[in-house]
Amino acid sequence: MNKAVRKAVIAGNWKMNKTRPEAKALLEELKPMVADVKDVEVVACVPFTNLETALAATAGSNIKIGAENCHFEKSGAFTGEISADMLAEMGVEYVVLGHSERRQYFNETDETVNKRTKAALAAGLKPIVCVGELLWERECNITEEVIARQIKLDFYDVSAEDLKKCIIAYEPVWAIGTGKTATADQAEEVCAFIRATLAKLYGADVAEAITIQYGGSMNAGNAAELVSKTNVDGGLIGGASLKAADFTTIIKAAVNG
Ligand code: 13P
Repeated sequence: MNKAVRKAVIAGNWKMNKTRPEAKALLEELKPMVADVKDVEVVACVPFTNLETALAATAGSNIKIGAENCHFEKSGAFTGEISADMLAEMGVEYVVLGHSERRQYFNETDETVNKRTKAALAAGLKPIVCVGELLWERECNITEEVIARQIKLDFYDVSAEDLKKCIIAYEPVWAIGTGKTATADQAEEVCAFIRATLAKLYGADVAEAITIQYGGSMNAGNAAELVSKTNVDGGLIGGASLKAADFTTIIKAAVNG
């Protein structure tokens, strides 16, 4: 394993938080705090309504902007939806796909996550594809089956070249917003399993190049241990990404990770 071949990526997932003035204030506060960060990609994934504000606030800085979802069709009669092309045209670089909250509350399936991933790639976006098991699935000892199935389905028909543009976020559903973080060993175990699954599907060289994040109650206190693990190449952070100081601490932990 060679962690040095992969860039660590720390991404904030703001979820349904922040009005435009609040978004601007948070990014303006964050900008100088992370201005000297070089070896870690810093991303803020924000609500659609904040994208233009966020892009303007971070222009010329080392903070990249992402959206929190996109639809899989290019355009058409899909009231309330946003296409990948619409995001790419704005200058958005990343998009979170298949988040467990989308799967849980909005009936997204591996099939639609796969379609969204392909649409995002076709538009030139970098997908952050989330996978993770439910507590019940972990208790039944089927975490690896669940994760392998999600990886196979979510990346069905995605070429090796396109896979290299994707980030995979391992987010155990039981650890999201619960304050219950996976231990660093649990995170490492599943992230290593994801890489081994990718190696079977795409070959070891491709698998070694993919950034795999951990997400789920990652915070300023536990980030350093999590990102020190061989197969944990950063994090997808919810609650703690809404506070500039905490998010900066996590980013700096990844610099040393
Ligand atoms: P929390 O960090 O708030 O647990 O959320 C994690 C998450 O869902 C990031 O996408």
